[in-house]
Amino acid sequence: MQETLKGKVAIVTGASSGIGEATARALAGRGAAVVLAARNEEKLEFLAREISAAGGRALAVRTDVADEASVRAMVERAAGEFGSVNILVNNAGLGLSGRVEELRADDLRYLFEVNLLGPLNCIQAALPHMQRGGRIINVSSVVGKRAIPKVGGYCASKSALNLLSDALRVEVAERGISVTSIYPGTTRTSFRDNSRRTKDEERGWRPRGVTPERVAEKISDAAEKGGRDVYVTFPDRLFVAGTVLAPGLFDRVLRSWAKG
Ligand SMILES: NC(=O)c1ccc[n+]([C@@H]2O[C@H](COP(=O)([O-])OP(=O)(O)OC[C@H]3O[C@@H](n4cnc5c(N)ncnc54)[C@H](OP(=O)(O)O)[C@@H]3O)[C@@H](O)[C@H]2O)c1
Repeated sequence: MQETLKGKVAIVTGASSGIGEATARALAGRGAAVVLAARNEEKLEFLAREISAAGGRALAVRTDVADEASVRAMVERAAGEFGSVNILVNNAGLGLSGRVEELRADDLRYLFEVNLLGPLNCIQAALPHMQRGGRIINVSSVVGKRAIPKVGGYCASKSALNLLSDALRVEVAERGISVTSIYPGTTRTSFRDNSRRTKDEERGWRPRGVTPERVAEKISDAAEKGGRDVYVTFPDRLFVAGTVLAPGLFDRVLRSWAKG
């Protein structure tokens, strides 16, 4: 593996599990110093030791992205330890299942605290440390582009993140900082087990999905080269294009998912 990110400092939120963990490994493999941020400190320390043992540089910092003070402290530590922040991967996120009619406002409020205000807290804390060439990478979802039944609250949180990314991209362009939205489809992580659930509804069919390592490669490519919208698979891109071209048709197709 070429050390294409040597000398760069990358913050990865949600690095204790799934896509974030794989991304931290991938970025470290490309030579970046990685700051591992999540709440589970034990898992972060374990990963930091693994990366260090492989010759990389990693710093584990217990962080709750929904807590502005916690995020500011993490970014200050990162900048203090490594001198700057070049890459921010806003990956920490939470799922919420439930029909719109039944969603609890408290669950939705918390979801937005993590999935929208979390990235906002990180962006606002990291931007003052970023120079030209800085990269902000927000992990969204294909269902942030087209909502599907029984997870409408989650889809809304990712859609809101997309809009924030679009505004920010234009605002920071003159400063030479890029903003990338990544849209993974189903990915084989603990995401579903970690999701909040409105009711003990039967879990519907889901595609088998891709490995978190595959998503991590796309994120790492964006950390190197930037980019606007990044899909992980061609079918994901096709799904989103289809829903834009024929939204009513997709409504009808998705009705079968809303049953049961
Ligand atoms: N898996 C999928 O099918 C899929 C598809 C599309 C998009 N995504 C998105 O990909 C991202 C990563 O998900 P994943 O699949 O890797 O799920 P995961 O295995 O459940 O990982 C979620 C990560 O987010 C962290 N996190 C949650 N709440 C947090 C908080 N308040 N503060 C800090 N960290 C927090 C968790 O760490 P702690 O619990 O240690 O804090 C964990 O590291 C999410 O944004 C998700 O929406 C996932």
